[in-house]
Amino acid sequence: MISWKSCYDIGIATFDDEHHQLVGTINQLYGAMREKRADATLEGLLQDLIHYTEIHFAHEEEVMDRYRFDAVDPHCSEHRQLVDKIKQFQRDLNQGKERLSAEVMTFLRNWLLDHIVETDMALGRFLRDQGIYDCGPPKL
Ligand SMILES: [Fe+2]
Repeated sequence: MISWKSCYDIGIATFDDEHHQLVGTINQLYGAMREKRADATLEGLLQDLIHYTEIHFAHEEEVMDRYRFDAVDPHCSEHRQLVDKIKQFQRDLNQGKERLSAEVMTFLRNWLLDHIVETDMALGRFLRDQGIYDCGPPKL
């Protein structure tokens, strides 16, 4: 389970809220796995995680584009890698080749927190340097 710490905040209110929501979904998935819930419940939560991750990443990418953030390419490639990895995992799960395990949850947790404290923090710093603290809701 991930407990939120203030050092995970990047100082941009909308993105911090979205990160909280992502962490909440990962925690729900972890809770469902530990309680050995039905596969359909786990699949539904995983689908929610993928859906919400894609909306959040698209929002960050739209903002990076809007404010001409210079390190956009490496940031987007980290996003693509995670989405590809979760979708591959979802396919394996659906085909019965994989099960939701503590290792998968640890991977998700570590990936998300590393991405937030390193990559998203740099974006937060860039925006705050320009006096931006809130980017508004995703325009999708
Ligand atoms: Fe990001």
